[in-house]
Amino acid sequence: MGVEAIAREKFEIFNHKTYINSCSQAALAQEVRAAYNAYLDGLVEFGSPWETWVGVQENVRSLLGQILGAHADEVAITTSASAAVNAIASCFDFDKGPSQILTTSLEFPTVGQIWHAQERRGAQVVHLPAGSDHRVTAQQVADAITSDTAIVSVTHVCYRNGAMNDIKAIVEAAHGQGVPVLVDAYQSVGAVPLDFAELGADFVVGGLLKYMLSSPGVGFLLVNSATAAEYIPTTTGWFAARDIFAMDINAFDPAKDARRFESGTPNVPSLYAAQAGLGLLLEVGVSNAWDVSRQLHEELRVGVEALGGTVVTPSGSGAHGPMIAIATTDEHALVNSMAADGVIVSSRDGNLRVSPHFYNNSNDVEIVLSALKTNRHLLV
Ligand SMILES: Cc1ncc(COP(=O)(O)O)c(C=O)c1O
Repeated sequence: MGVEAIAREKFEIFNHKTYINSCSQAALAQEVRAAYNAYLDGLVEFGSPWETWVGVQENVRSLLGQILGAHADEVAITTSASAAVNAIASCFDFDKGPSQILTTSLEFPTVGQIWHAQERRGAQVVHLPAGSDHRVTAQQVADAITSDTAIVSVTHVCYRNGAMNDIKAIVEAAHGQGVPVLVDAYQSVGAVPLDFAELGADFVVGGLLKYMLSSPGVGFLLVNSATAAEYIPTTTGWFAARDIFAMDINAFDPAKDARRFESGTPNVPSLYAAQAGLGLLLEVGVSNAWDVSRQLHEELRVGVEALGGTVVTPSGSGAHGPMIAIATTDEHALVNSMAADGVIVSSRDGNLRVSPHFYNNSNDVEIVLSALKTNRHLLV
């Protein structure tokens, strides 16, 4: 269908706010709101429509696969990105096998924390420092891998500064030395075209509440069946069983495919929202969305620099995601001041984060720039 045909009116927040904060949470579409209601209506009408719920979950699995270039059996649906990383972490025997976890200084806290939690199981965590462009390179990864490296874990787009790593090159460097790669793609999925097969990473994790237009409570893990077969999680649950309805309490018999990394009862209300949000995203097309947000990102960069501000996010094709980070002397004062004027953005690590998606436009950018001009004293 394309971006222009998706009416901005679907996102009611634009009736009263300039919302440009999709790195935190997507604007709510009318379809997504209706989907939450459909879940409740089902409870009132049928009580426990499990067959419908399972159908929704399988539809979400298929939609995620279509959007991310994966087969449905390569998609595990989790309740968060953290649950997906934990399931993978639980497969490793750091005490007995390779013990080094090679990660970066750019990770979202949950990823760093989960890897450090493995220290009690014998792991050693090494953080590669980002360069002055806030990225890590494939060469750094290649140089840091040793015969003791168990896994490389790297973020695609950094949540603090919007820098994007060259995952394909990093995967090649790691695979060249026989080391698997986990990618946290939370800040890119839905915004930047990503094809699982082409990327070549062993594990890709993310979630749906940001650029995927959906809800908290749904994350995912992409893993192909050949790789899945090599990893046996100890963080698990009955929805990971080969036959969920075998109801066997005497054995652990995980599914052969990605589903082996799932756990307990899915977050059904959030799956309803996800079905609607992903359906909308598929209509728009991620590459169309990326064309819009890349253009707005550039307009913001030019405008901030014209104000004498500092853009922290690196420039150039392949170097950044949709979000642009702007240096400020007081991130909270700036976010609050802009919010008081109806402009919704966020901040992290001393930077203002402005994160356009396909439903934003140049007028939103002008409003943001005008708010920044008003608050020029908070820019550096
Ligand atoms: C890059 C990144 N990874 C992970 C997360 C958190 O994932 P979850 O809360 O689903 O575990 C976020 C949330 O903001 C994120 O931006």
